[in-house]
Amino acid sequence: MKIAFFDAKQYDKQSFDMYTKGTDISLKYYETKLSCDTVELAKGSDGVCAFVNDNINKKVIDALVEYGVKFIVMRCAGYNNIDIKYAKGKIRIARVPAYSPYSIAEHAMAMLLCSVRRIHKAFIRTKDFNFSLNGLKGFDLNGKTVGIIGMGKIGKAFSDICHGFNMNILAYDKIYTYSNSVKYIEIDELFKKSDIISLHCPLTEETRHLINNQSISMMKNGVIIINTSRGALINTEHLIEGIKSRKIGAACLDVYEEESELFFEDFSGHIVEDDILTRLISMPNVIVTSHQAYLTEEALNNIAETTVKNIMLLASEKDCENEIKA
Ligand code: NAI
Repeated sequence: MKIAFFDAKQYDKQSFDMYTKGTDISLKYYETKLSCDTVELAKGSDGVCAFVNDNINKKVIDALVEYGVKFIVMRCAGYNNIDIKYAKGKIRIARVPAYSPYSIAEHAMAMLLCSVRRIHKAFIRTKDFNFSLNGLKGFDLNGKTVGIIGMGKIGKAFSDICHGFNMNILAYDKIYTYSNSVKYIEIDELFKKSDIISLHCPLTEETRHLINNQSISMMKNGVIIINTSRGALINTEHLIEGIKSRKIGAACLDVYEEESELFFEDFSGHIVEDDILTRLISMPNVIVTSHQAYLTEEALNNIAETTVKNIMLLASEKDCENEIKA
């Protein structure tokens, strides 16, 4: 069984080679992303394996169907980069709904701690034998209020970590699920009352640019915004305005709305053309990581294991609990 594997990186190959060993699955790794320009590489394949920044639009879906490709397996949880409605009835698609919510939640806390204790600055200073503490003053997380938007698997894992730090936890979700350490409130209240806001909801039409001028204006002065979910949850230009006006105290971003052409690749030594991203990166109170939150050994192994199971089920035309239904 032939699978065209797009946007392949060395760390993907290690885990996928391990989990396909001894099976009849043959993976053809392509470093390029899946798009209208590259979809031809899938010719002759039974299935396609794709990731967060592959662009699976109507044209790509039509081409895959024309080439006789039977299914798409996403090696991620989110699927905002697929035209799901258009794919319905044409090609089956499965994903990995959960591989390690802890990897993302722990990364969110790592970024928060890095930001509030200025670790990113201290690291560079001491490398240069600069042991001055000027400008490194942080604050305690103990007793601060964190607002979590999206209390699914990752939001819950993050709230458990915050609970361990003795923080007050507010949450907003469309669906209420009980947790004794969390107080659910309306989203506007969350914007008003939180010292730190962490985004853990999916990107949908409803949540696109959830963080914008209007929501930022409701927030506390000095609020910290963490986004490990999807870049387009934030209107980045409005975020920059909020930081420049000192309304926003810091931003910890693992995702960026225009990340698809940049993230996962090495652009050191290049002039990066994206002025919004370069402005963000130049700000002392912004930490950017390149969609790295999921990158732990446990998560990569779980992704490969579940994706291989999804391939087996879709290839044999069986029911698959991880199938995405429009
Ligand atoms: P999940 O499906 O378990 O939880 C999502 C939660 O968001 C649900 O409780 C849902 O009710 C809620 N929600 C949906 N629409 C909402 C709205 N309009 N307002 C508030 N809440 C809303 O998903 P999980 O596993 O917790 O993942 C969350 C997101 O994290 C994914 O959608 C994905 O975008 C992102 N992610 C990022 C990764 C990274 O490496 N940075 C890796 C994996 C996921």
